Amino acid sequence: KVVSIVAMAGVSALALSLAACSSDSSEGGTDTKVFKVAFNQTESHPQYKALEALGDRLKERTDGRYDLEVFPNETLGSQKDTIELVQAGSIDFSMVSGSLLENFNPDFVVFNLPYVFDSKEHQSAVVNDPEITADLFSSIEDKGISVLAGFHGGIRNVYNSEKPINTPADLAGMKIRVIESDTNLRMMELMGGSGTPMGQGEVYTAIQSGVLSGAENNESIYANLKHAEIAPYYSYTRHLMFPDYLIVNPKTMDALSAEDQKIFSEELAAALVEEGDFWADEVKTSIATAEAAGAKFNEVDADAFRDALAPLVEEKLTTQVSKDLYAKVRAAAE
Ligand code: GCU
Repeated sequence: KVVSIVAMAGVSALALSLAACSSDSSEGGTDTKVFKVAFNQTESHPQYKALEALGDRLKERTDGRYDLEVFPNETLGSQKDTIELVQAGSIDFSMVSGSLLENFNPDFVVFNLPYVFDSKEHQSAVVNDPEITADLFSSIEDKGISVLAGFHGGIRNVYNSEKPINTPADLAGMKIRVIESDTNLRMMELMGGSGTPMGQGEVYTAIQSGVLSGAENNESIYANLKHAEIAPYYSYTRHLMFPDYLIVNPKTMDALSAEDQKIFSEELAAALVEEGDFWADEVKTSIATAEAAGAKFNEVDADAFRDALAPLVEEKLTTQVSKDLYAKVRAAAE
C-alpha cells in the first residue's frame, strides 16, 4: 500500500516542477540539483535519518542528477514558517506536523484526533493508502502545497516541571505548549490544562523561565531537545499520534523526468518503511537519555483521558469528507 501512495504521488503530486529553488553543485563534472529539505528536529530523529538515506539513494540512482540536503534544528525556520517558504518556492521540501495542515484544509484534522490510530502500523497503512488519502493529499495544491507521504511521528504524552499527571484534574492551571492549531488548543482544554500554541524552538526557554509548566510530545523531542532537564515529569497519556507530512511545492517536481519521478517514488516508499523501523530504538534511547537527565516516567489513568477527549472527535468532524475519512480509518483498525 505504501508503494502505491507514492506511485500515486508520482503521477499527481510529483508531476511538479523541481527546478526553481534548489541549489546546484558541481561534483565530478556532473551538475547535481540539491533539494533543500527543512526539518525542525535533531539529526538523531528517525525522520532525519530516513531523509538523509533517501537523498543518498536518490543521488546514486539518478547518477548524481538529484540529491537532498536536510537542514535540521529549525535552521530554515519553524515548521509554520517553512510551509510558507515551500509555498513561495524558496525551499523545496519540508517535514511538517499534520496539525499544521489543518490550517489549509480542515479535513486534515481526521488524522490529528486523539486515539484515531491504534498503532504505528495502523497509522502508516491508512495514511499512505491512496484510496483513502489521495484526494486529501492533493487538496491544497492550489495553495502551493503537495503532500507526498505521511511519516510516523511518535506518540505524544504530557510532561511538566511540577508533578506527575494521573488524571485531567492534575493539569488544572497548567500552561502546556501545543502545536499551532485550534484542535490542539481544544484538546488541551479537554485534557484539563491550558494550551499555549508556539513553535518547537521556543519551548525550552518558555518552560525554563516558567512561562509554561510543560508541553506534550514524544520521547525523542523530550530527551533530545533537553526538555527532560527542566520538566522532569513525563506522564503517559498517549493521547496523540499524528503523522508528519513531507510536503513539496507543486511546481518543484515537474522538472524530473518520468524515470526520475519513479525513482523518487520508490525510494520515498522505502524511506517510509525505514523511518518506521527506526522508532523502537529511538524511543528506548530517548528514555535512557531522559532518565539520565533526571526524568521520571509514569502511567496515567488512561480511561479518564480517553473519556475527557471523546467529545473532540464529534466536535471536529464537521464535514462529510472528514466523517467518511474517519470511518475508513476506524474500519481499517478492525
Ligand atoms: C513532533 C512532530 C513534529 C512537531 C513537533 C512539535 O516531534 O514529529 O512534526 O513539529 O512534535 O511538537 O512541534
